[in-house]
Amino acid sequence: MIKPGAVKNKHIGEIIAKIEEAGFTLAAIKTLQMRREDAAEFYAVHKDRPFFEELIEFMSSGPIIAMVLLKENAVADFRELIGATDPAEAAEGTIRRMFATSKSHNAIHGSDSDENAERESAFFFSRQEYLRRVMVES
Ligand code: RTP
Ligand code: MG
Repeated sequence: MIKPGAVKNKHIGEIIAKIEEAGFTLAAIKTLQMRREDAAEFYAVHKDRPFFEELIEFMSSGPIIAMVLLKENAVADFRELIGATDPAEAAEGTIRRMFATSKSHNAIHGSDSDENAERESAFFFSRQEYLRRVMVES
């Protein structure tokens, strides 16, 4: 998911270009704005963390780009491409290093497991929206 800050700062195109250059196939994409309750559900795992309120406020503050991405070893490779949560710690050339403005406003989200990738894809997309592309690619 491209987060509200990077959308607002007009980095959608550059970020998708980096994702494609890294070998990912875009199986589904849409733009939408989450309500507070959507963001709270998406990040429910963090509900007891001190940054939760700030996180859902930010994530519901403007449009995001939701994507389903395909690749061998996608979760690990995508997290390497986006870099550390805090852009100050993210490696040179990573998406967060290039486009994040702070640890809270860090440009992009990546799923942290295959199981959560399934859950998060289903959160934003109906199965028909990416099933055919998945079948063509695999
Ligand atoms: P994400 O889930 O968004 O891909 O990020 P992540 O795995 O790298 O980091 P995670 O620990 O899952 O945290 C989720 C998001 O919460 C915000 N955060 N802010 N201010 C803070 O100390 C803090 N810590 C985390 C970040 O936006 C992070 O991406
Ligand atoms: Mg996470």
